Amino acid sequence: MCGIIGYVGETEEHDALDVLLEGLSGLEYRGYDSAGIALANGSIAVRKKEGELSALESALEGEALAGDAVGIGHTRWSTHGPPSDRNAHPHTDADGRVAVVHNGIIENYQPLREELADGGVTFESDTDTEVVPHLIAAFLEAGLDREDAFRRAIGRLEGSYAIAAVFEGEETIYAARNESPLVLGLGDDGHYLASDVPAFIRYTDRVIYVDDGEFATLTPETVTVTDADGRVVETTVETIEWDAEDAGKSGYDHYMLKEIHEQPSALRECLRGRVNELERSITLEELPALEWEGPVQFVACGTSYHAAMFGAGLLESRGVPARPYLASEYTAAERPVGPDSLVVAVTQSGETADTMRALREANAAGATTVGVTNVVGSSAAREADHVLYIRAGPEIGVAATKSFASQQAALTMLACALSETDAGDVVRALRDVPDGIQTVLDTSTAREVAEAYEDADAYFFIGRGPQYPVALEGALKLKEITYKHAEGFAAGELKHGPLALVTDNTPVFAVVVGDGERARKTVGNVKEVEARGAPVVAVTDGQTDIERYADHVLEVPAGDELAGAILANVQLQLVSYWVAHRLDRSIDKPRNLAKSVTVE
Ligand code: G6P
Repeated sequence: MCGIIGYVGETEEHDALDVLLEGLSGLEYRGYDSAGIALANGSIAVRKKEGELSALESALEGEALAGDAVGIGHTRWSTHGPPSDRNAHPHTDADGRVAVVHNGIIENYQPLREELADGGVTFESDTDTEVVPHLIAAFLEAGLDREDAFRRAIGRLEGSYAIAAVFEGEETIYAARNESPLVLGLGDDGHYLASDVPAFIRYTDRVIYVDDGEFATLTPETVTVTDADGRVVETTVETIEWDAEDAGKSGYDHYMLKEIHEQPSALRECLRGRVNELERSITLEELPALEWEGPVQFVACGTSYHAAMFGAGLLESRGVPARPYLASEYTAAERPVGPDSLVVAVTQSGETADTMRALREANAAGATTVGVTNVVGSSAAREADHVLYIRAGPEIGVAATKSFASQQAALTMLACALSETDAGDVVRALRDVPDGIQTVLDTSTAREVAEAYEDADAYFFIGRGPQYPVALEGALKLKEITYKHAEGFAAGELKHGPLALVTDNTPVFAVVVGDGERARKTVGNVKEVEARGAPVVAVTDGQTDIERYADHVLEVPAGDELAGAILANVQLQLVSYWVAHRLDRSIDKPRNLAKSVTVE
């Protein structure tokens, strides 16, 4: 999704162009198809290019743009109009007095465009964003000063936006936020703004999160946050607890591989202070005792939805009715949500538009809401009544990996807290998971499995109970980064249709953990596919005889189904990674996908 960066400061310390380009590279993980910058010390200089950031950097080579102290930059993920140089941001008014970058969607852009066109404006792009600089210019022409013109223009917008604007010859950035992320960075040598902290973390760890409806004005010396009426808002400066190296690749070829390997430490961090081994108890200090009626409703998208399925299943197994919803399918008007409901929004980024809309609707219906998120200060963290951080650290690879494991662990703990059941079994299961993941990472033969099946026609994943969401997640991961057809099924559903797809070139990955009834039944399903000639890859702790029917085995340490679901997923992540690696895919930035999907 689009990312914005802005910098205003001392040229002697940082050149704005360098800061913007580094900032854009820190935002690449969000997914984009074009990039651009505007510098504004003298007359505004805009440079923008379709394609990767390197295309913009090549276009800038030999340009005498260094020496500016103020500028804005943007990575665009197309929504209105195809990827192209002219649709890339920044956009300007006809006279180049103001340049604007925007993340979000301006829903009323069509009537605004018609109104401006009637007034003689010619549009250069297909974007919704371009109405903004033209609106600002119209207010300037009406005699307003720059700040008022900016405010009045923003006041005309409906929809979601984080917007930053610079005016020619002025060392100030004007910004506004509604439903799209915007964070300010307070450096010693200047001030920053961005969609997300990795854009400027190498310069400062002191940040202010801007709220919906607020405006920010940044100069080299000052940062002022105001409300819609221009009243100064008291802000809190927060300190980010990770650094640029945490957000870098640390010698791994890809962020994804690095993040897969970070899972033991991420899990330890997630469990720290929450799991008490001596007392065999779980304490989530951030959550008060909650009361609600009806099933606990989980809302989430993508990988987070699979974690929500996992969490809801666990809660039900502990006697508490629960239901996971795809956030995009959840509308308060059609769901039994009201003041007595409990709604849990699961979102790594805390910014996913569908999840945020569902959360906002639940809030509006008076429900008690809990945000389960990774990003401190994110919209979900701020807007939910209560927040449970998964503490996975920055996740840059578009395909979620470590955040899923941390969500599984956090939701397991949440299920104990909400069900008020004895947590002894969960403490036992979770305690050994970080070391178990390390064992998987040290011994995995996923690379050989990937080699054996890189040319498969399709890949199927099956599991039961807690392993069912893991099967879905295994398939999602594979399709995301390899572009190959993959599907996950509840193991018992195979014979109700999917079995017709099975051939000798469609490997079936079966997740079988423990020796309970579910595991034994899945072994039965494996026999069915094996009898039809499909290669079988068993992801197992060896407590059943599944290995007899498997062509390959990916081992996980023996344990219960719960821990097994976290461990087995790591093996599947590695299979996807190595297939994608062999196929030379763009692993960290798969085509057409974005890390943070801020449009519905
Ligand atoms: C995008 C990402 C996925 C992620 C989903 C939900 O599609 O590519 O990896 O699972 O959004 O994101 P969230 O931040 O809400 O967990």
